[in-house]
Amino acid sequence: MNNLQLYETIFKRKSIRKFDMAPLDTAVLTEIKNYASGLKSMDEGIKHELVYLNPGDVKNLFPIKAPYYVCCYSEKKEGYLMNAGFLMQQLDLYLSANGIGSCWLGMAKPSKELLERKDGMEFVIILAFGKANEPLHRTDTSEFKRKNIAQITDLTDMAELLEPVRLAPSASNSQPWYFSVTGDEITVSRKSLNVITAPIFSKFNQIDIGIALLHLWLSLDHQGKTAPFETKKAEVPKGYDYMITVKTGSN
Ligand SMILES: Cc1cc2nc3c(=O)[nH]c(=O)nc-3n(C[C@H](O)[C@H](O)[C@H](O)COP(=O)(O)O)c2cc1C
Repeated sequence: MNNLQLYETIFKRKSIRKFDMAPLDTAVLTEIKNYASGLKSMDEGIKHELVYLNPGDVKNLFPIKAPYYVCCYSEKKEGYLMNAGFLMQQLDLYLSANGIGSCWLGMAKPSKELLERKDGMEFVIILAFGKANEPLHRTDTSEFKRKNIAQITDLTDMAELLEPVRLAPSASNSQPWYFSVTGDEITVSRKSLNVITAPIFSKFNQIDIGIALLHLWLSLDHQGKTAPFETKKAEVPKGYDYMITVKTGSN
């Protein structure tokens, strides 16, 4: 699977919530696990581990039943939630590109024994996957329910670069991201939370930003540019919190 195939999948992927419970071919499952073992990290200094769970090992508040679940655990270091979003979105796109349905599950957790690890790794998020029992892809980007480009950036000439980012999935479709541009730098911020929204969205919105960053990384790559991430002080619009800076140099 190359970056172009992942990039092209952005424009048709969707969350799958109805699964065929029949098992996948062993060879297909092995390929998925092989791909997942080589995901690109935003920060190689943050250790992560993917664990495959059976339906019986997952507690889900919503009745989505899937034959397979992959659970991301991570070291709890600066930026680890963004990193988890960046990693797992590669898998979400890979699965969709290979004809397999998937859905991020923020409301699911591994069973108690699997939740409490003693090696310093923390449970972050689960992705459900399996054969889809509903149409796998969208046929047109108008089918995506998303903010328009002017609601996520102040620069009009960024439309082509940011279109795939605009289409990124997010928890409750909250789309908390904003992209400001100075020179060859993109400042990424996320909508500030209040006392009511913070307990639910503080974690998810950081994962969402990581998902959007993966789409941005693929979009820059598609334009022949690299995208190193950097954390520094930068101005963000009122009502937003600074997350990260992306340098948009050439390859
Ligand atoms: C971090 C995260 C958590 C999510 N949690 C759930 C969930 O618990 N249940 C669910 O049905 N969908 C969940 N979703 C899927 C979103 O609702 C979905 O991505 C969004 O509505 C956009 O729809 P689309 O993915 O079909 O484009 C989650 C998505 C993300 C990114």
